[in-house]
Amino acid sequence: MLDLDKIQALAEEISAATASTPEEVEALRIKYLSKKGSVSALFDDFKNVPNEQKREIGKKLNELKTIAQTKINDLKESFSAADTGATGIDLSREATSSVWGGSHPLSIVRNDIIEIFGRLGFTVSEGPEIEDDWHVFTALNFPPEHPARDMQDTFFINNNPDILLRTHTSSVQVRTMERQQPPIRSLFPGRVFRNEAISARAHCIFHQIEGLYVAENVSFADLKQTLLYFAKELFGPETQIRLRPSYFPFTEPSAEMDVSCSLCGGKGCSVCKGTGWLEILGCGMVDPAVLESNGIDSKKYSGFAFGMGVERIAMLRYQVKDIRLFFENDVRFLKQFQSVL
Ligand code: PHE
Repeated sequence: MLDLDKIQALAEEISAATASTPEEVEALRIKYLSKKGSVSALFDDFKNVPNEQKREIGKKLNELKTIAQTKINDLKESFSAADTGATGIDLSREATSSVWGGSHPLSIVRNDIIEIFGRLGFTVSEGPEIEDDWHVFTALNFPPEHPARDMQDTFFINNNPDILLRTHTSSVQVRTMERQQPPIRSLFPGRVFRNEAISARAHCIFHQIEGLYVAENVSFADLKQTLLYFAKELFGPETQIRLRPSYFPFTEPSAEMDVSCSLCGGKGCSVCKGTGWLEILGCGMVDPAVLESNGIDSKKYSGFAFGMGVERIAMLRYQVKDIRLFFENDVRFLKQFQSVL
């Protein structure tokens, strides 16, 4: 006679069943769940159960069947997982290597420059990218008709001639002098914007690092010595510099600095176009009129300033032929700088 005890006994037996091979699992399946199996046999007996017990016994029978099916499935799964080891983890599988990030080449060059001038006592500060006419042009002695004030060269915001994207970091010289009296010895790194057609050699966004030193008795010799030290530290101890007279509205006298070509050592090659020299920055003595417009006594103080393009220096250092590569963030390009921290 089928009763609850019989069902309970079989449930316990099935729950305790174990198998050590897939074949043993199949044998258990046949023993309990096949047409002639013991669970099926109890279902056959069900027709003899008195009507008043059918409800309770039927429920328990169905539970028993679920227990048996779950047990067989679990055992089966434990063997298919055995391919990857008993824990389900394949210890022989190759580990996925983690992808390391690295510094962008422009950051590497910028940090090197800041570090070199830091040894000479230069601090670092920044100014806004959106500027007004005063800080970018007027306070720096640009005459009203200067071409930089033309829409062709400068991005103005909403066609307002007084709100613009700075075209050089020299605007941060003004912001520094208007809030700080000498001695000033600072670097101003940042992005600048010019309305130029994008090509391999020019971009409408690029980075500059500006330097400003204002104190008593600062001379052109100090400027030259500072820049010579910088060039040797950045490009190597053999490096020579050359200062060519130039013009900027805010420095007098003004110069452009060339360094001896680090690739050919000055003999002449394709990078320096056969001249042996590479132009890397503009510089000069701060025009006394600029000191005065910013509330600094030009009888007491003098100073020098310089400004350089970070992309240009990075292109020379890493032999990058197209400036656009710095802005595209193509990992195949960036990966090449991974090991340089
Ligand atoms: N601001 C100049 C430029 O963008 C560079 C410069 C900076 C020149 C400081 C002299 C002094 O070309």
